[in-house]
Amino acid sequence: MSQYWSDLVHTLQPYVPGEQPRHVELTKLNTNENPYPPSPRVRAVLDDAAVDALRLYPDPDSGALKAALAARAGLAPENVFIGNGSDDVLALAFMAFFKQPEPLRFPDLTYGFYPVYCKLFGIASRIVPLNAAFEVDPADYVAESGPIVLPNPNAPTGRALPLEQLERLLAANRERVVLIDEAYVDFGAASAVALLAEHPQLLVVQTFSKSRSLAGLRVGFAYGSAELIAGLERVKDSFNSYPLDRLAQAGALAALEDEDYFRDCIARVMATREWTVAELTRRGFAVLPSQTNFVLARVPNGRARALFEQLREVGVLVRYFDRPRLHEHLRISIGTDAEMRRLVEEIDRLLD
Ligand SMILES: Cc1ncc(COP(=O)(O)O)c(C=O)c1O
Repeated sequence: MSQYWSDLVHTLQPYVPGEQPRHVELTKLNTNENPYPPSPRVRAVLDDAAVDALRLYPDPDSGALKAALAARAGLAPENVFIGNGSDDVLALAFMAFFKQPEPLRFPDLTYGFYPVYCKLFGIASRIVPLNAAFEVDPADYVAESGPIVLPNPNAPTGRALPLEQLERLLAANRERVVLIDEAYVDFGAASAVALLAEHPQLLVVQTFSKSRSLAGLRVGFAYGSAELIAGLERVKDSFNSYPLDRLAQAGALAALEDEDYFRDCIARVMATREWTVAELTRRGFAVLPSQTNFVLARVPNGRARALFEQLREVGVLVRYFDRPRLHEHLRISIGTDAEMRRLVEEIDRLLD
């Protein structure tokens, strides 16, 4: 607390990201990063010439990357927005679209940044609880009106809605923006990009952080109607016109162009996920069906905090949320096969 802070800063409750430990020997399964390195093409473009060019400002529109993302989705560049990680895209979207007479709706168990942005931007919210199976029920978003933000698949549950259900939700909510946060969509869910043609109120946000192993580069993007993208550009250019540096633009483009590596990497993570689900289930964990690069698992005796702490002591880092409905669960990111074997071996020792 400080006399120099504004009233608003006094009231904020900042997002607390998962721990980024200094000890690299830890088995790090706590922040949903990809265990594999990015495409080798990323390294190839980050050469001396790219570094020399850093004296110049970058392209404020990330034009080449925007064109490539548009082409990949079968859209025009005017349907694409690019930001400094999807958190940046989300923040700008909250500013651009969510301060409305009606509150913004989102689930009780969801990405922890949404309530933080609401507080920062003075946006009223209405929490819509997930059903008992930890699923989003589109029927819960039909009776009232107002904007909506939903991750699909959801985090930290890992569960995804099929497109027919998203379509139902969109059909009932045409007046305000519906933002579908697809940070994890590449790990097995269907993308709402297919619904854009029919729904000008739909904004789909994705990231290079998870499926393309570039969490450290900070590149996120959105697909939407030209009017929504123009709204985002207005906010961006009122705040920071150069959200992506030159290295980020070049690296992201190189990663996007390596489709084979991308497919291979996702397939490996998904195979390891299925192995992990089977092994945890065999040991009495109740694991939610996941279409992401993490699983949410109820610990057999419900004592998730104790297991979290014991795992940390032996060098395995997972995520524990000390909050209602989640305190008996652990969220475990999918690592390499060796890392997941280590997790299971430690669990066997600890729960013996
Ligand atoms: C649901 C969801 N959305 C967005 C993000 C932010 O991703 P980034 O800012 O790295 O693109 C995350 C990160 O964990 C997430 O879980």
